[in-house]
Amino acid sequence: MSLGPLLAIETSCDDTSVAVMDADGRLLSSAVHSQDSIHEKYGGVVPEVASRAHVERATVVVREALEGARLSLDDVARVAVTVGPGLVGALLIGLHTAKAFAWARRLPLTPVNHLHGHLAAVWLADSAAPFPMVTLVASGGHTLLVRVDAPGVFTLLGETLDDAAGEAFDKGARLLGLGYPGGRELDQLAERGDPAAFDFPVGLRRPGSLDFSFSGVKTALFYLLREMGSEERAARAADVAAAYRASIVEALVTKLLAAAEEQKVPAVAIAGGVAANSLLRRQIVAKGAARGLYVVTPAPPLCTDNAAMIAAAAWGGPVLPYPEYLALEASASLALAVTPGAAGDGAANLRDPV
Ligand code: KG4
Ligand code: ZN
Repeated sequence: MSLGPLLAIETSCDDTSVAVMDADGRLLSSAVHSQDSIHEKYGGVVPEVASRAHVERATVVVREALEGARLSLDDVARVAVTVGPGLVGALLIGLHTAKAFAWARRLPLTPVNHLHGHLAAVWLADSAAPFPMVTLVASGGHTLLVRVDAPGVFTLLGETLDDAAGEAFDKGARLLGLGYPGGRELDQLAERGDPAAFDFPVGLRRPGSLDFSFSGVKTALFYLLREMGSEERAARAADVAAAYRASIVEALVTKLLAAAEEQKVPAVAIAGGVAANSLLRRQIVAKGAARGLYVVTPAPPLCTDNAAMIAAAAWGGPVLPYPEYLALEASASLALAVTPGAAGDGAANLRDPV
C-alpha cells in the first residue's frame, strides 16, 4: 500500500533494528544494533537484559535509520512493528516505541508477524523470484517449511518436533566450548573440518515426512564428546563441528527439496538466522540448480533478525488507523497462520481494551 515512507521496528529477540521503506516498497535504510556483546558472558540471550538494552537503544536506532534514509520523522507516513512471536518483554519495547511514534503524529500502524518478516526477506532479496515457492525458515526459535503462493499467502508444510535448527547449532557450539553466538562460530570452525570424520544421525530421515527433529543429533554429540579426552576433543573439534553441521544441513536440504518436489513449485528459498550457514547456502544452490529450481539465498544480514524484512512484510499488510492500534498487545507465540491486524486474525490476545 503506498502511503508514503514506512518506518519499521523489530525487537523480538536480541537485535534492536529499524528500517525505512519508501512508498514504492524500496528499502531506504536498515539499522541493526546487535546485543551479542551483552549476552556473550551469559552464553545465551537473557530476556530481561535484552528488554533493557532495547529500551536504551530504540530511539537511537530509529534516528540512525531515519538519517540513513535522509528523512525526518515528519516524512514518515506509517509505522510497522513486530508483535510476535518472540520474547514478550523485548517485543513490548518495540511495540510501545512504535505506538508512541505513531500516536505522536496520529499515523497508521501495521503490526507484523515475525515469521512473515523472515518469509518476506526472500522477495526483498530477489523481486524476480517466481511464486509459488517453498521457503525454509530456520532460526533460533523456529524450523518451518512453508509454501508461499504470494506475499502474505502461506501454508505450513512441516516443522520441527523438538529443537529448532538454530537451537541445535547453538547447543552444539556450547558443548564444543565455542563462543557466542554459537551457530556462526560452529559454522566457521566446521569450514576447516572433515564432515566424513564422524557419523551423526539425521532426524526423521524417512521419505514422506516434512517434519524435523534435532534432538538425536544433539544427544549423539553429547555422548561423542563425553567419550573423548580433552586433548582429543581439542584436536578433533573442527571435524566434529563439520560432521555435526553436515547432519543438520542434510536434514534441512533434503526436506526442502522433497517439499518442492511434492508441491511441484518452481522455486525454493531459505530464510531465518540459520540461512546464513555457509554449507546450507552452498548445498541448496547446487542441489536446487541440479533439479532446475530457482533458488533464493538472501544475503546473511537479511537472514538474521532485521527490520528491513519487517518493512517488506508490512508493506502490503493491514493498516490500522489511529487510535485502533493503541489496543495491540505483543504475543510470545504467534502462529504462522496469524496476520495481526487483519479482520478475523484469530489473535484475540493481540487486542486488549485500551
Ligand atoms: O533469525 P534469527 O536471527 O533469530 C531468531 O528469530 O531466532 O536466528 C538466530 C539463529 C541462532 O540460533 C544462530 O545461532 C543461528 O541463527 N545462526 C546460524 C548462523 N548464523 C546465525 N546458524 C548456523 N550457521 C550460521 N552461520
Ligand atoms: Zn527471527
